[in-house]
Amino acid sequence: PTPVVLDCDPGHDDAVAILLALGSPGVRLLGITTCFGNCAVEDATRNALRVLALAGREDVPVAAGAAGPMRGQVALGNYVHGVTGLDGPDLPEPTAAPVDETATQMLRRLLTDSPEPVTVVVTGPMTNVGTLLSQEPGLVRHIREIVFMGGSTERGNHTPTAEFNTFADPEALDVVLRAGVPVRMVGLNLTHQALATPAVVERMSAMPHDVGRTCAAWMGFFGSSYERIWEFEAPPVHDPCTIAALLDPDVIRWRDCFVAVELDGTWTRGTTVVDLFGRLPDHAPNVSVAMELDAERYWDLVLAALDALGSA
Ligand code: BDR
Ligand code: CA
Repeated sequence: PTPVVLDCDPGHDDAVAILLALGSPGVRLLGITTCFGNCAVEDATRNALRVLALAGREDVPVAAGAAGPMRGQVALGNYVHGVTGLDGPDLPEPTAAPVDETATQMLRRLLTDSPEPVTVVVTGPMTNVGTLLSQEPGLVRHIREIVFMGGSTERGNHTPTAEFNTFADPEALDVVLRAGVPVRMVGLNLTHQALATPAVVERMSAMPHDVGRTCAAWMGFFGSSYERIWEFEAPPVHDPCTIAALLDPDVIRWRDCFVAVELDGTWTRGTTVVDLFGRLPDHAPNVSVAMELDAERYWDLVLAALDALGSA
């Protein structure tokens, strides 16, 4: 199995990403680090622990991370995910506590202790990873690749051009894009193909356990936000696409491109600039960009993992 650290801001779709990682034999989840984003970092940490309690996997260590970005104002996504960041069904209270280390301390330890390079998956703002690599650039040799959900080849969601995670900490993403580490970007252009249709939600709610039923109820809350704000008929379940990419090389089609993130811009701060057609010949491709999702394969992976976890 691929050793993975998941850096996240749960968040309904982050929660499904955690469950996908836990329920899939192809991934070994070494730890979870949290960040502000969908909610304040305290809530993100509590939510990560509640999801682990739901899964009966409180052995996975959780470390609390950044409360705000490397520069600028804190942006929060409570308008999508509710006051707690994970509104909707009741969840078990955690019995475990976060570890006695910060996110960057635990991430550093897990990277350097691992006998093989670790895959770092980021499904929230890039603050923890950007901060660590700016302090200690040599750590990239312990990282196999960074796979992140954020940005887009097209338009944004938080602003007309910027996706939420890249808007929330563009400087941190900029550090990662320049770090000389393999990076894969799973942006909105891909995740808007990962829709939890009524048929998908029905498969979740038909599962004879709390993991399936809870996911179905999360999709209800998340779906009503997406309908209200962006007029989606079904919610795009962004974050688990990153984990799915590790599990099945054929679930996503990729394209190598030069990617930068706008740090200034009167209207466009946090927007990813993706050179799909090689218009910037002085800038070699630095990111593998997710282009096309096999949605059927994706949902089969996610639902199989949820069922395995819930039935365990
Ligand atoms: C991203 O922002 C959050 O709302 C989701 O958890 C996802 O990581 C989508 O723009
Ligand atoms: Ca997220």
